[in-house]
Amino acid sequence: MSVSIGIHDLSFATGEFVLSHAALAEHNGTDLGKYHVGIGQQSMSVPAADEDIVTMGAAAAAPIIARHGKSQIRTVVFATESSIDQAKAAGVYVHSLLGLQSACRVVELKQACYGATAALQFALGLVRRDPTQQVLVVASDVSKYELDSPGEATQGAAAVAMLVGADPALLRIEEPSGLFTADVMDFWRPNYREAALVDGQESITAYLQAVEGAWKDYTEQNGRPLEEFAAFVYHQPFTKMAYKAHRHLLNFCGHDTDADAIGRALGQTTAYNAVIGNSYTASVYLALAALLDQADDLAGRALALLSYGSGSVAEFFSGTVVAGYREQLRTEANRAAITRRTPVDYAGYRALHERAFPSDGGDHYTPAQTTGPFRLAGISGHKRVYEAR
Ligand code: CAA
Repeated sequence: MSVSIGIHDLSFATGEFVLSHAALAEHNGTDLGKYHVGIGQQSMSVPAADEDIVTMGAAAAAPIIARHGKSQIRTVVFATESSIDQAKAAGVYVHSLLGLQSACRVVELKQACYGATAALQFALGLVRRDPTQQVLVVASDVSKYELDSPGEATQGAAAVAMLVGADPALLRIEEPSGLFTADVMDFWRPNYREAALVDGQESITAYLQAVEGAWKDYTEQNGRPLEEFAAFVYHQPFTKMAYKAHRHLLNFCGHDTDADAIGRALGQTTAYNAVIGNSYTASVYLALAALLDQADDLAGRALALLSYGSGSVAEFFSGTVVAGYREQLRTEANRAAITRRTPVDYAGYRALHERAFPSDGGDHYTPAQTTGPFRLAGISGHKRVYEAR
């Protein structure tokens, strides 16, 4: 009999500050309806000066370690597209902040927003090889576009940590996966840039083509029929994108695109992304958390997940919700991660956006702003210095 493997626990963290789209609209004169209705966003998380992908990733993972211990974790996979170093994996800092055992492999993965799904799939393979081991997957990103660009309204920041193991308590991940890769320049960030470059409309088209391609492969691999899914969990650069994607999939399959039915299929997946903004690799797993936290009992039901990373790679796969999953949820902590953020005005956000460490190799300290469990104290001799608070 094959072992059941999947997501045993899931926890997330986000930035210290929040910028409302109302404040952004007031600054740039945009009709607020474009943000609230047109792209489906209310606000976006803004990291403090002493937060980054490492501090958020460690903050997301710490409650998982507190609940399950460290002894079975022999692999940490850190997925990000807002990497802080070209060589060293950000996960090594997380490993250190969490005090994980030295008998552990740590690696960083990249393929735009798809990276966390690659990490999850690799983790499933490792656990299949040795079901006594667990893999800690951390997906952490700060989404940053140019100030005053169309992409500015689709920024955000968050980290999701997932413990992957045998006999999971939340979601059993199933085979097959539907896969799709196409070489497109819809969104990218050359090594010398802080902010991403994007062709907005091209990126939406590329996403929709990837949904279609991944679904086509999923059906060719004898996946479940569309009707079997209780809900559809999409990567959400902005929440309206999930609606566009699902309508596209239904059209492609020759189904009705009734707005109420689409709302039922994915409405409960958007609550966290609508107020956190784009968190790149973490986004689809924040959508999963929002669904599990809000839905009536999903035990035994199949969920569809669609992961998309610009450039582009997509994967359509499914999972079955495990009986008793609700006892494992972190609903209160998840809501607190959102409500604890401090509102920042447009000027404050802009100053944080423009902040960068000098590259002179000197000692540069960051102001103490975060109220999270870990902080980036500064940079010294080109080395990032982290500390627990
Ligand atoms: N009231 C209601 N709706 C309004 C409105 C108003 N007053 N004004 C405009 N709208 C609607 C528009 O009709 C449009 O809706 P539809 O797409 O359904 O037609 C929507 O608001 C957005 O309007 P525009 O297309 O004119 O907006 P824009 O040119 O400013 O660009 C964007 C929007 C392309 C998403 C831009 O914010 C962007 O480039 N974002 C970054 C790229 C991105 O997120 N791409 C998504 C796919 S790529 C991906 O998924 C990977 C990733 O994470 C980056």
